[in-house]
Amino acid sequence: MRILVTGASGQVGVALAARLAPAHEAIAPTRAGFDLAEPERLAERLDALRPDMIVNCAAYTAVDRAENERDLAFAVNAEAPAAMARWARAQGVPLIQLSTDYVFDGSEDRPWREDDRPAPLSGYGASKLAGEDAVRAAAGAHLIVRTSWVYAAEGRNFLRTVARLSGEREELRIVDDQTGAPTPAALVAQGLAAIVDTSAPDFSGAFARAENVVHLCASGETTWFGFASAIVDGLRARGVALAVKRIVPIASDDHPAKARRPKNSRLSLERLRRVFGIEPPRWDEMLPAELERVAHLDSPSS
Ligand SMILES: NC(=O)c1ccc[n+]([C@@H]2O[C@H](COP(=O)([O-])OP(=O)(O)OC[C@H]3O[C@@H](n4cnc5c(N)ncnc54)[C@H](OP(=O)(O)O)[C@@H]3O)[C@@H](O)[C@H]2O)c1
Repeated sequence: MRILVTGASGQVGVALAARLAPAHEAIAPTRAGFDLAEPERLAERLDALRPDMIVNCAAYTAVDRAENERDLAFAVNAEAPAAMARWARAQGVPLIQLSTDYVFDGSEDRPWREDDRPAPLSGYGASKLAGEDAVRAAAGAHLIVRTSWVYAAEGRNFLRTVARLSGEREELRIVDDQTGAPTPAALVAQGLAAIVDTSAPDFSGAFARAENVVHLCASGETTWFGFASAIVDGLRARGVALAVKRIVPIASDDHPAKARRPKNSRLSLERLRRVFGIEPPRWDEMLPAELERVAHLDSPSS
């Protein structure tokens, strides 16, 4: 299939475009060639690209900045998916829309199920929820795939930030009251590729069996503090010289950020297992492979 992967310079997009080849042809336009901040131009772009399927990995992902750039966040995360979904519906093209744990408010004391009521705490979460609603309203063959706490050895993410700061500072203060599952972009890509392949050729039937929403992230759970501690221990074990001496667990309230984040970001994986037969590994089983890559990328000889 000719699959349009938007956001192909982002963490998930890079991994997915690589994962889809050679079984599929991944079309991966740059932002200049497919700008989601101009939703009104996307139908024309799609007419030219003529994909058989769309996986929308592009998003405005700057969670704190979105509090000040709400209009742009909504254009990219809601109006653009709406335009893509309308085009996809008219052409009979299936669409996968990536979404986030930040559509939930984190108030439940159990992993969030797909049909739990979303109640985003932030502008980013609200814009992603509006994107979900718009894709659903277009009523074509669609699947909303929510993931959480995405990281990779490259790109802008928590792993890279901790790796950098732990090389510069003796003390790191890290939030310990938000719980989730750190998820390598490669795992999301692997899951998306498996969903594409198991859903073909009757995408609407397969997506309907998942009630058009599924959660896809690593198994297990930790806090940002737990994740940071595992990153530092793992880098040290791989011979990376670090300045950090202490990692101090703190409360979210002691780390003022513009956007509020859910305390509980755990996502239920029961539907992913039942409908798509995917059993994601635990977050701490997948971290070593990414740390190997970081240690190698950051070593002076590489
Ligand atoms: N990162 C997370 O922790 C996380 C957690 C849960 C869900 N998600 C969701 O997972 C999906 C993939 O996230 P990610 O981590 O791969 O994001 P990312 O690394 O921040 O990449 C975002 C991608 O979107 C592109 N993009 C941003 N604005 C655009 C625009 N106006 N037009 C075209 N492209 C634009 C970026 O292009 P440039 O390179 O040009 O900026 C980049 O390719 C998103 O839907 C996100 O909401 C992410």
